[in-house]
Amino acid sequence: MSILEVQDIHTFYGDAYVLQGLSLKVEEGQILGLLGRNGVGKTTLVNSIVGFNPPRRGKIIFKGMDITHVSSFETVRGGMGLVPQGRRVFPSLSVEENLKVAERGAGRHGWNLERVYALFPHLRERRAQRARTLSGGEQQMLAIGRGLMTNPDCLIMDEPSEGLAPIIIQGVWEAIGKLKGEGLSILLVEQNAALALKLIDYVHVMSKGRVVYSAAPQELWANEEVKSSFLGI
Ligand SMILES: Nc1ncnc2c1ncn2[C@@H]1O[C@H](COP(=O)(O)OP(=O)(O)O)[C@@H](O)[C@H]1O
Ligand SMILES: [Mg+2]
Repeated sequence: MSILEVQDIHTFYGDAYVLQGLSLKVEEGQILGLLGRNGVGKTTLVNSIVGFNPPRRGKIIFKGMDITHVSSFETVRGGMGLVPQGRRVFPSLSVEENLKVAERGAGRHGWNLERVYALFPHLRERRAQRARTLSGGEQQMLAIGRGLMTNPDCLIMDEPSEGLAPIIIQGVWEAIGKLKGEGLSILLVEQNAALALKLIDYVHVMSKGRVVYSAAPQELWANEEVKSSFLGI
């Protein structure tokens, strides 16, 4: 069953026509990967789903409900978690305050401070430190932890590996693997295909505001033409 379904959406910034009929489904308990070069509309899709920039046409269905024109606040309260591109933690709040402001008691996965600290022990050690003093990797962990504190039924992560050193990415990827092991449904937006393919169940490749290719990860990896045309590898 799909937990999130995007049906033929068309999204604009003013006159700029960015998403030009995009559809996808996130299946319950799976990780859907969304790949594509810079500027193809990945973050615009995220913004459409969470209500920052709703589509002009098409529909977004979450847990069977039409959320196309529901506010971001209500969408998150309804169980859509977001780990935004560029992390966006509150710089002058402590690690623990950043986590607490996102706390939402409901949801079936039962996330709380203890569980976030168990997933990211680094954050426990730095719980009183202001977020601006964390390294990039620690800020990414905090951004994921904050997303989890909303107890999402579906978590959207927008380029979680961006700007991180390989050794740090490894830790973040292990954590995402654990979330998958717990049956969390995830939409993983990435530019780094090789990394994303380690985790995902199914992949969509985007170009110019549309999905141009969809496959199982091994199949994408074997397709040299798609890799070079749309992913630059
Ligand atoms: N706030 C905005 N206003 C106008 N155009 C935007 C805005 N954000 C993104 N765009 C444009 O929309 C297109 C898709 O951008 P984006 O969704 O950020 O791509 P990606 O996340 O795949 O790198 C780009 O051409 C970008 O310049
Ligand atoms: Mg983006």
